[in-house]
Amino acid sequence: MSKGEELIRRREAVVCPGVGRLSTMTAASAEGAIITDVDGRAFIDFAGGIGVMNVGHSDEAVVAAIREQAGRLQHACIHVATYEGYVALCEELVRLFPHDDRPGQTKAMLVNTGAEAVENAIKIARQATGRPAVICFTGAFHGRTLLCSTLTSKVTYKTGCGPFVPEIYRLPYPSAQPGERISEDDLVRRELVRLREAFINTISPASVAAIIIEPVQGEGGFHVLPKAYARGLRAICDEHGIMLIFDEVQTGFARTGRWAAYEHLGVLPDLSPWAKSMGGGMPISCVIGKASVMDRVIPGTVGGTYGGNPVSCAAALATIRRMEELDLNARAQRIGQVIRERFEAIAARVPDVTSVRGLGAMMAMELHERGDPSRPASETVKRVITACRENGLLIISAGQASNVIRILSPLVITDEQLARGLDILENAVVSATGSARVSVGQEA
Ligand SMILES: Cc1ncc(COP(=O)(O)O)c(C=O)c1O
Repeated sequence: MSKGEELIRRREAVVCPGVGRLSTMTAASAEGAIITDVDGRAFIDFAGGIGVMNVGHSDEAVVAAIREQAGRLQHACIHVATYEGYVALCEELVRLFPHDDRPGQTKAMLVNTGAEAVENAIKIARQATGRPAVICFTGAFHGRTLLCSTLTSKVTYKTGCGPFVPEIYRLPYPSAQPGERISEDDLVRRELVRLREAFINTISPASVAAIIIEPVQGEGGFHVLPKAYARGLRAICDEHGIMLIFDEVQTGFARTGRWAAYEHLGVLPDLSPWAKSMGGGMPISCVIGKASVMDRVIPGTVGGTYGGNPVSCAAALATIRRMEELDLNARAQRIGQVIRERFEAIAARVPDVTSVRGLGAMMAMELHERGDPSRPASETVKRVITACRENGLLIISAGQASNVIRILSPLVITDEQLARGLDILENAVVSATGSARVSVGQEA
């Protein structure tokens, strides 16, 4: 039995199976965009621990900051004693992500996970508006606490976990259905009308605290929010005093080629949760909001023992500094361009690839059996992912039907590693779909 098999065997004996396992991959160490398993085999990392390692594994400056802070102050609890790292990180966050055009009008708070940040954003919106209801979208993923499970769309993430939180209403995310031919203008018009109709037939806007939406859906399959829809949402929220929340947990911190994905939209949210790549792998998350909203939160109703732990704050501050030094936004744009070109070439060759989409380095391709929009190619995608792993590439799926292949590699990936990873992926897609035979036949 290999060391990896032995570790998986031990896991299965003691770890709750509800903690999902995507594969038999193990991890012993990692550096840059390479992750090494417990048997010493190296893999190109296209998963980044689900979009967490934008700054790269084991960045020297981040590791040094963690070490230094751990030796000085590991924990104090921000409710008990104010420490420099918490305040300095909030200063950085409001500098990078102002939620108001006027200076000094943005505030932040720190917690530990994406779900906790989402949960707090909703609590803040409820307190600031005095209203109960929240509107969310199909395909959404907002985490696994009970409130976040309620907001999350895909039922396999929440089966048997109900009863869910009341006063949550769901509308279709403004993306075309597979095979649907509709212009973006028509799509946006249709979905904004649907929202206005929901205010007549489903929930009064006077009861709605917040509308929460991902600027690019993560687990939902990398659908990109149309700018005109975001502008429409902003106008509707302003008209009715509703808080607009952009969930930037997966999109934030250079993944899309900007610090915030909302910068692409040209629309400011009232509140936004962030996590993942913020801490360079350490557990830390935040809610950023307009000061006028944050100042209405009742003291003692948000926070927690570990929120903004000093070691995690030091990691986040070092991560932000490194991202600036390495200009990871420019790198993300370049990586995204390379992936898009390759994915489009694969789509031209493989009829099963029905969509190539994404923003910056957050790129994905969707597969349907033989291009038939009614047959999501979930099993084919599983085969692609297995073949990639056999050939030294770690990659994960997404999408409501798990028929989307997504790339969330560290942004410090070298050109050579990226090209090699894309070669492995292309070969796997071609062979799993039987497209090699198709193109040979076509040539004949
Ligand atoms: C958009 C989005 N929101 C929230 C979450 C939940 O984050 P966490 O798993 O850290 O709780 C995720 C995680 O994938 C996410 O992608």
